[in-house]
Amino acid sequence: MEKETLSLLDNRTGKSCEVPLFKGALRAMDLRQFKTPTDDFGMMTYDPAFMNTASCQSAVTFIDGDKGILRYRGYPIEQLAENCTFLEVSYLILFGELPTAAQLTEWTNKITHHTMLIETTKKFLEGFRYDAHPMGMFISSVAALSTIYPEARNVRDPEVRALQIQRLIGKVPTIAAYTYRHSLGYPYIYPDNDLSYTENFMNMLWKMVEPKYRSNPVLARALDILFILHADHEQNCSANVMRSVGSSQADPYVSVAAAAAGLSGPLHGGANEEVLKMLDEIGSKEKVPAYIQNVKAGHGKLMGFGHRVYKNYDPRARIIKQAADQVFGVTGRNRKLDIALELERIALEDEYFIKRKLYPNVDFYSGIIYQAMGFQPEIFTVLFAIPRTVGWLAQWKELLEDPEQKIARPRQIYTGYDVREVVPIEKRKPKAAPLAA
Ligand code: CMC
Repeated sequence: MEKETLSLLDNRTGKSCEVPLFKGALRAMDLRQFKTPTDDFGMMTYDPAFMNTASCQSAVTFIDGDKGILRYRGYPIEQLAENCTFLEVSYLILFGELPTAAQLTEWTNKITHHTMLIETTKKFLEGFRYDAHPMGMFISSVAALSTIYPEARNVRDPEVRALQIQRLIGKVPTIAAYTYRHSLGYPYIYPDNDLSYTENFMNMLWKMVEPKYRSNPVLARALDILFILHADHEQNCSANVMRSVGSSQADPYVSVAAAAAGLSGPLHGGANEEVLKMLDEIGSKEKVPAYIQNVKAGHGKLMGFGHRVYKNYDPRARIIKQAADQVFGVTGRNRKLDIALELERIALEDEYFIKRKLYPNVDFYSGIIYQAMGFQPEIFTVLFAIPRTVGWLAQWKELLEDPEQKIARPRQIYTGYDVREVVPIEKRKPKAAPLAA
């Protein structure tokens, strides 16, 4: 039988030892025993941006980046997108198994009964300027829920945790819709419990004076599929924020707000908005080759391309492309699709992108569908944050149930000065550049 160990030799001291591997990985703490005779607390690993460090064990999501595989709790994303609803998948992600019909009814009922927001949330939103970015409003409003549910701080209590999970999943579409209505100056629409999760979201976004809002079933299903595709993606930037903030036992509202802030950046969930800006900037199919040349010359990135883990086609992008056809069947084709398809075609044949294994990611096509459905690009990342709340909460739940987890606290390699004496202010000579105005 293979030995599950690693033999290590420290050439500074001659010390050698055999360390056990943990599920195929080296435990970083096993390196601490390698010390030089001087005042040394032991060897660390150095891994900026966590390129090769597992920070946890997780049973939620599996990705094989080389093969382009994504599974939630073992189920391929393709099967889930084809056969399930978003709330079914949420249940799976959080509790590990697909629900029975009775369990799904109970779960849907629980989520539905937490979709309302306390009225003060409206006043809070009114404090934002008319042109406030929806993601900023979303992050702040989710954090503000912490002031409404102070008991949420009791994160060690599984029942308290379960209630906050239901509240968050129920309320994020309402917050998202309110931010949208705020930016349009329209009155806020209360949730309608007769509708499904995505239909209700569409109702809160787009209902005007009609007594009952009816969404187009094709569009509602497409949105549900998009929500399934965005529900979790293992230890990405925002999930890592969720775990890191959650590890201090902060409450789930502020932790989700922090994770959403991580998502908002253009290299993460903010990319979907950037893709649309890029397609607008390119303007027409004919201008695609010049744009690609520019990117290759080091001027910017092709937004919606590349991934830290996928080095093969992102399976979510493939499913989104299929969903796009159904959406365009209802809305008419978004002309930006032609530019996007041309970008993809040229990039996938280009040595620069082939060598670096850069393929379209989930954000490349999602914005084109969202725009065709009537969403403005500024709200795209909020549309990502709604379903990803489920993933963040599953990661948070798993963290708190894991006896090996503690407060997250990375080490550093200190590169600053050794000890120095403070010089009285009148004797100091300028060394640093003056502060910018
Ligand atoms: N366009 C052009 N070149 C790129 C791109 C791109 N989109 N992405 C990576 N590269 C190049 C990069 O310049 C580097 O080249 P070189 O080796 O010559 O220096 C090489 O590819 C490796 O890139 P990296 O930056 O080391 O890769 P990373 O794993 O650190 O970054 C990424 C991954 C997603 C941040 C990056 O590919 C990127 O910025 N993509 C554009 C933004 C985007 O679409 N983000 C959404 C990601 S998927 C959904 C999500 O996470 O929310």
